[in-house]
Amino acid sequence: MRDRLLAAEKVKAIDWRGEALYLLDQRILPFEENWLSFTDAEGVAKAIRDMVVRGAPAIGIAAAYGIVLAARVRKAAGGDWVAALEADFAVLADSRPTAVNLFWALNRMRDRLNRIQHSADALHVLELEALAIHESDREANLTMAQLGVDVIRRHQGNAQTVLTHCNTGALATGGFGTALGVIRGAWLEGMIEQVYADETRPWLQGSRLTAWELANEGIPVILNVDSAAAHIMKTKGVTWVIVGADRITANGDVANKIGTYQLAVNAMHHGVRFMVVAPSSTIDMELASGEDIPIEEREGAELLNVGGKPVGADVQAFNPVFDVTPADLIDVIVTEKGIVERPDAAKLAQLMCRKRLH
Ligand code: MRU
Repeated sequence: MRDRLLAAEKVKAIDWRGEALYLLDQRILPFEENWLSFTDAEGVAKAIRDMVVRGAPAIGIAAAYGIVLAARVRKAAGGDWVAALEADFAVLADSRPTAVNLFWALNRMRDRLNRIQHSADALHVLELEALAIHESDREANLTMAQLGVDVIRRHQGNAQTVLTHCNTGALATGGFGTALGVIRGAWLEGMIEQVYADETRPWLQGSRLTAWELANEGIPVILNVDSAAAHIMKTKGVTWVIVGADRITANGDVANKIGTYQLAVNAMHHGVRFMVVAPSSTIDMELASGEDIPIEEREGAELLNVGGKPVGADVQAFNPVFDVTPADLIDVIVTEKGIVERPDAAKLAQLMCRKRLH
């Protein structure tokens, strides 16, 4: 299955070309495919904040490359460049608050830097570390796809109708996706009959990105407004809701794109299984529960305008872009270290002690 999964890897959103970082501008997909180049940390941080690059693993990878670029600038300026680089770590860490992959990647880069400090090949070592972060996410996607497909097979076999939310595919990761990777894998195994994709207001990651990725590969996808999800679960024979995550706390609570929580409540009501797929870099063992997760709130203008045109009355709008699904609504969390059914603190702690499976 691994080879078939690799052969299905077609889209990528992050391209490290040695001299600069190139990001596929996800704000204008699928209508235009435009690559933007970045050579400093401020540019990368702005790209993350402005949603040029999005999706928890992808922003972690972009931030790691951002540190490589920043280190070059700082070293060229001379002086104590390692100390000066702290300002760049801070700028990148300030770009978005919820996805822990960002902080995980920055910590990994800082640990590496602390071990080499002012050595002559420090820039090269940092570049290798960022490449390793990128490559390990790609590998994690492959492992999770296989594990997720096994879970589905064990429970119900073929002819799955699944519902997904936001975009968790190649555009959101270093490989071909987390939740969308499992869906891709299940499709390759002949197990998918239909995918429903929530449009995912207000950034439309579902209609612009997920629908595009799936349609490009001939995977049958039907788009729906977010508020149709309960109706679809009731009337269309949905067997699984499969989503990604931005942060999973020590007790198994999951922060993901706003709307995920109501999907989990509805799935429980309708007897639909609920799967979360995320690499271990998304698991934050420092936070005891989802209540501690900082939830990003973006400008109300994102709700009041579509394509630059006003679509709402002139009122205040509340725009939290993530929510927290409690662990007890989740059937299974799939990571590259293994799966956790009916997650709780003990099972998560056990999982995090393990090495990767592949
Ligand atoms: O605001 P976004 O587009 O960055 O939100 C993305 C999500 O919520 C994804 O579901 C999550 O990051 C997992 S991506 C593999």
